[in-house]
Amino acid sequence: MTTSARGLGFLIEAIDHIGVAVPDLDAAITFHTGVLGLELLHREVNVEQGVAEAMLAPADSSSASTQLQLVAPLDDDSPLARFLGRSGPGLQHLAYRVGDIDAAAAELRRSGVRLLYDSARSGTRGSRINFAHPKDMGGVLVELVEAGKQRGVA
Ligand code: CO
Repeated sequence: MTTSARGLGFLIEAIDHIGVAVPDLDAAITFHTGVLGLELLHREVNVEQGVAEAMLAPADSSSASTQLQLVAPLDDDSPLARFLGRSGPGLQHLAYRVGDIDAAAAELRRSGVRLLYDSARSGTRGSRINFAHPKDMGGVLVELVEAGKQRGVA
């Protein structure tokens, strides 16, 4: 495990992705690839999270670059469906990439930050994820991502 210069038990390596809530994943992919020219790298359904999601990035960007995640609810009961009902489509979360999500979660808890899950859950491409409560993060829903081995162009 890497230790940061500040002596924290974890290190943020990058802004992994920005999450945008959309009501219709196919329509949002068509818009972002067609109008913005982004490249579709990956899509999958995460039943546990109640979402269908897609990862996009500028064409020719490196697999380590910050990506755009489009997330659409699978049903009307998911937290994301409630977000869409409350706030409408738009920016939904900011995801930091960490080398060790268990260390990051423990360190944040020690700092008084509440996490949504007791332990990390499965995210896109075999990653492990957790979320920090927006009320403890300046109003931003922050996702922690420990990258899986499948990151990059699928
Ligand atoms: Co995300």
